[in-house]
Amino acid sequence: MKILLISSSPHKEKSNTFLLAKEVLRGIAEEDAKADFEIIHLSEHHIGFCRHCEECHKKILNCSVKDSITVILNKMLEAEGIVLATPNYINQVTASMKALFDRSSHFIHCRRLLGKYIVAAVTSGSGQDKEVLDYIKYYAHTCGAQYSGGVSSSAYVLKEKTKDAYALGKKMARDIKEKKVFPEQMKVIEAGREHFKRIILLRKEEWREEYAYWQKSGWL
Ligand SMILES: Cc1cc2nc3c(=O)[nH]c(=O)nc-3n(C[C@H](O)[C@H](O)[C@H](O)COP(=O)(O)O)c2cc1C
Repeated sequence: MKILLISSSPHKEKSNTFLLAKEVLRGIAEEDAKADFEIIHLSEHHIGFCRHCEECHKKILNCSVKDSITVILNKMLEAEGIVLATPNYINQVTASMKALFDRSSHFIHCRRLLGKYIVAAVTSGSGQDKEVLDYIKYYAHTCGAQYSGGVSSSAYVLKEKTKDAYALGKKMARDIKEKKVFPEQMKVIEAGREHFKRIILLRKEEWREEYAYWQKSGWL
């Protein structure tokens, strides 16, 4: 199985968040010895802010901001499982991860992560990370992915939480293998798609490629 870890700590390999996320990967490897891992540290890339020019809706993945984003979005499309790892910055994901989310709004319009699984790994000073985990879960659903779960830890008790991260990795791998369906999550994903159906129909003249994607998917 193909797993993409996107980590947004500026401390990269030395970061608390990456250490926690690595345990998730270890759990996945335990369930699937052939798992193929790719790791992206967002701080090694330049990711500009979304300009809301809508180019990516007119021509899929065509972004007017020329930076690393298309490469990263394509890697997300290739993965079966995505681990989103971020430190808690004022009860949110880091600005770099938010920039990535904003730049992926085509995924939201076309539910491009449908059939994929996302997990979250978050660290903080306090270990009070519910808002951040919930936000990543929300992001997963709005892109069509199911959420296998999240793990969070205070930086000061990281060791104690490695077991939870490892168990979450194992769970994610099993969800992927079994193509697990979480009915409650699918209801949320379907409701979001219904919402976008109206918008895609309203904007079909401008958002030509997204409209064509909906037609091709048989959702209209
Ligand atoms: C800008 C900034 C904002 C932060 N906001 C919070 C916060 O709201 N709550 C908290 O518990 N910790 C907060 N922290 C602490 C970090 O989340 C914590 O040190 C984290 O483990 C760092 O992860 P890293 O080692 O992976 O970079 C903040 C740190 C920074 C730099």
